[in-house]
Amino acid sequence: MEKKFNRTLVTAALPYANGGVHIGHLAGVYVPADIYVRYLRLKGEDVLYICGSDEHGVPVTIRARKEGCTPQEVVDRYNRIIKDSFEEFGISFDVFGRTTSETHRKTASDFFRKLYDKGEFVEQESEQYYDEEAKTFLADRYITGECPHCHAEGAYGDQCEKCGTALSPEELINPKSTVSGSVPVMKKTKHWYLPLDKHQQWLEPWITKDHTEWRSNVMGQCKSWFDMGLKPRAVSRDLDWGIPVPVEGAEGKVLYVWFDAPIGYISNTKDLRPDDWELWWKSPDTRLVHFIGKDNIVFHCIVFPAMLKAEGSYILPDNVPANEFLNLEDDKISTSRCWAVWLHEYLKELPGKQDVLRYVLTANAPETKDNNFTWKDFQARNNNELVAVYGNFVNRALQLTKKYYDGIVPACGELNDTDRATIDEFKNVKADVERLLDGFRFRDAQKEAMNLARIGNKYLADAEPWKVIKTDPERVKTIINLSLQLVANLAIAFEPFLPFSSERLKGMLAVDGLSWASLGATDLLPAGHKIGEPALLFEKIEDSVVEAQVAKLQQCKKEMAEAAYKAEPVKADIAFSDFEKLDIRVGTVLSCERVPKMKKLLKFEIADGLENRTIVSGIAMHYEPETLVGKQVCFIANLPPREFKGGLVSQGMILSAVNCDGTLSVITPERKVAAGSSVC
Ligand code: MF3
Ligand code: ZN
Repeated sequence: MEKKFNRTLVTAALPYANGGVHIGHLAGVYVPADIYVRYLRLKGEDVLYICGSDEHGVPVTIRARKEGCTPQEVVDRYNRIIKDSFEEFGISFDVFGRTTSETHRKTASDFFRKLYDKGEFVEQESEQYYDEEAKTFLADRYITGECPHCHAEGAYGDQCEKCGTALSPEELINPKSTVSGSVPVMKKTKHWYLPLDKHQQWLEPWITKDHTEWRSNVMGQCKSWFDMGLKPRAVSRDLDWGIPVPVEGAEGKVLYVWFDAPIGYISNTKDLRPDDWELWWKSPDTRLVHFIGKDNIVFHCIVFPAMLKAEGSYILPDNVPANEFLNLEDDKISTSRCWAVWLHEYLKELPGKQDVLRYVLTANAPETKDNNFTWKDFQARNNNELVAVYGNFVNRALQLTKKYYDGIVPACGELNDTDRATIDEFKNVKADVERLLDGFRFRDAQKEAMNLARIGNKYLADAEPWKVIKTDPERVKTIINLSLQLVANLAIAFEPFLPFSSERLKGMLAVDGLSWASLGATDLLPAGHKIGEPALLFEKIEDSVVEAQVAKLQQCKKEMAEAAYKAEPVKADIAFSDFEKLDIRVGTVLSCERVPKMKKLLKFEIADGLENRTIVSGIAMHYEPETLVGKQVCFIANLPPREFKGGLVSQGMILSAVNCDGTLSVITPERKVAAGSSVC
């Protein structure tokens, strides 16, 4: 049975305020949600778009500790940065709140208390690691030790970053508290649990029977949780950063961040609409839609609905269109490995190109499977689609209008077959885009909009006004009129996707009230209307721009890896006299060349202060031979000659440093010295 909704409450996952937001966040959550709400607003529907920053949780405290400031200072800083980046990208939230606000503290606290009073929690004691020196229970992330699987040092209580295995803190060998450095002890602690096992009864049919329309990736994850059987989840933590658990005997305990954060949707709505927020959260004719990334599915499809149901007075989500992940240059986006494109940096480095990124991220949206962002593709989509298709059509239509009619829309005469075929092709655009957007299929919807521009280009190419003008000027009026109508349609169709460009385009057309309802019409610009000055809607992006972005990524990743490098354990001691046996010297490179058929080898002629010598070294993957000529290198002079294939003999070994990423760097004296100088 189709339900009748009178308003839509759209939420976008609250980003953690312990870092900026990157393109993965934008593609996965905020752009699709923004397209959706802009579309609903254009249709005149009642809609609110709710977001804010998620400011509690252990990562915030870790960051504060690292930076020597308070958690509040950390979240204040990132709340600003995040809010500003979103604003600049035209993400049109109705409210962007914070989970450290007073409204939120009270709302989350009352919510917990109500569930507590209704007996919706189970209390349970368990043993957890406790730091006796710092007098605090330790969050999993605060405990490090040896990984039980790969035996790497420095694995965290929740995960070993070396081998990627998920851990629980008891599994670590020789655990250590990172707060004080002491060895933690097990201590009893009490927590409140949401008994999801009891909720499974209604949750399972609610999702798998009543919401068969949910995306298959969402449904798949939910089903696998149900198949494993839901288990009670702790909703409190022993931590000093968060909302205090509002019951007696809960000193030192706060609400688990995943309990308070989704309630942030409610508190932010309250701040926005203090008088009628309940209509948006409790009235059955409100449709609630959560936009999230795939790592948030269980919280939004299972945990939060269970909380809402337990409370008793709230509606449940109607849909949770979760996206998969966006990779970057074929590698997983990772903050700790410095593999990300940050919005605040993009805005500085590619100013004015917000719509380009919006376009590319939607074109590559990870809607059904993980997808990949590359700077090459970014450039190609800009140059081959935005510039060559959309921008080109608009520019030709406007320039011709200016040239032939001094910028005044000519009257449309009688239509011929080409005109009618063109109109036929685009008159369904509204129905098509709407059907796709209603189904949360943003990439396909954007393709439909772009298709209008393709139709326009084809129309101009077929109708050839620049030729016809010489033989049949009356006919050209119709061609230009129809082209301009198409341009106006483009401004409307792209409005949810590329709001800045639509705004500019409307400026060039000198119109402001093009309504969504009129999408597909051919009388949007009346004859006699004077359009504005044409300008390029998009600009070509040069190779150098995207190459610089790739280089920046690689450089940053390298620096991060170097900073995090943990050196190999030191080898067994040797006698000094053994060291003295090594004869290390400096030589000057006279020539250096590749060895045919041996792609790893370089052949050096080295001036060694004696008779010069040939050394073969396996560093061809790391150097262009000509760049080494004239340089000084260190080599071991008293190794026995070594013969390579083809009779090539090496008289010594060139010393290199091995970087953490495996790249080799030859050792060279800091000042030039005489060839043959010994190294001691
Ligand atoms: N901060 C979480 C994340 O980035 C999302 C929280 S969504 C909310 O993964 F529902 F809890 F608010
Ligand atoms: Zn490991």
